[in-house]
Amino acid sequence: MDIRPSKRIASLPGYPFAEVDRMVASLKAGGHDPIDFGVGDPTEPTPDVVRRAIQQAVDTRARDGYPSYVGAPEFRQAVAAWYGRRFNVPLDPDRDICATIGAKEAVFNFPNCLIDPGDVVLCPTPGYPPYNRGTLFAGGVPYYYPLRMEDGFLPDLDAIPEDVLARARLIWVNYPNSPSGRVAPDGFWPGLLAWAARHDIVVASDEAYTEVWFDRPPRTILEFGRDGVIVFQSLSKRSNMTCHRIGWVAGDARIVDLFKKLKTNVDSGTATYIQDGAVAALSDETHVAAMRDLYRQKRDLLVPALRDVGCEVFTPEATLYVWPRVPAGMDGLRFAKRLLDPAVAVVCSPGPALGEALPDGTHPGQRHVRFALVPSVEKVAEAAVRIRKAFG
Ligand SMILES: Cc1ncc(COP(=O)(O)O)c(C=O)c1O
Repeated sequence: MDIRPSKRIASLPGYPFAEVDRMVASLKAGGHDPIDFGVGDPTEPTPDVVRRAIQQAVDTRARDGYPSYVGAPEFRQAVAAWYGRRFNVPLDPDRDICATIGAKEAVFNFPNCLIDPGDVVLCPTPGYPPYNRGTLFAGGVPYYYPLRMEDGFLPDLDAIPEDVLARARLIWVNYPNSPSGRVAPDGFWPGLLAWAARHDIVVASDEAYTEVWFDRPPRTILEFGRDGVIVFQSLSKRSNMTCHRIGWVAGDARIVDLFKKLKTNVDSGTATYIQDGAVAALSDETHVAAMRDLYRQKRDLLVPALRDVGCEVFTPEATLYVWPRVPAGMDGLRFAKRLLDPAVAVVCSPGPALGEALPDGTHPGQRHVRFALVPSVEKVAEAAVRIRKAFG
């Protein structure tokens, strides 16, 4: 039988990190031990407090059936209480919050709530791939706005053409930003909200990295307003729970309601014992502070090494990423390949793999690479030595 993929699936480029995985595999096959900064998946264990809670819950939930689509009441209450403590933002657990199976599924599926064929979705480039993939699957048209070092990795909203704005229904913003590590200044949020209200554009704020900060805790957009706003959050990075798949959306109850309607048709909710683990995670800040401390140490080892070899580096204020601009005369791909020399064996992601090219064919990530600070502190120290040698 001839299996013919749909046009939509056939038109998708491969998942960008598959290429990185292949490069690592070939180094390993050659007997090398690469230090892998490729994929942003924490290598530290899920904290004890969370694992214990999940273990217990598997038994106490022995007779549970399908989970609730929107999340167990105790999970949504824990999320609301956390917003109160962390941001001083009051949320109604019943109206303003819905559990998700991690942020990725929510980000990918969400455009279906608002987008009709031909509607424009404004997506950052570089940016998290599901912003545009979800847009395309919903029949929308992504318009990419660049995030450049010169602009402090903030969008130039006034540069978006009027005819695009007229068709735009949704903008994705992501602060703390992956991959740049930029935290939006407080003044950014009121400006964005006023602009969005003027153009009738819903703001989808991906806040998956608010807890991985180094200097000062980042704000949520919900501190500045919630009319036409929906936030995407996750415990993947805050509590090293990438394996467990738990997050939530929160914000304007009218939009959350649309998301709930979509969700009841797409999935059957996140396992209730995982939600119990999430409640334990949200009630503990000790492990979060320890996680931040580790990333800070790693950042402070890697950034000086990259500067020493001629990279221009914005010191990340948050997230697990470093996004250097490589030395003049090179592009991100060449730099990454140089580090894949078996004598160096350091893996990073070439910038063009993250996000899309602009209409003029240029890519804001062309001269960048991304390091995900996931190897151990010792390995990051070793990588700093190897990088200095590679370019020394
Ligand atoms: C910017 C951004 N948003 C959301 C996510 C999704 O996280 P998860 O699906 O694990 O909750 C990631 C994961 O790497 C990310 O980088």
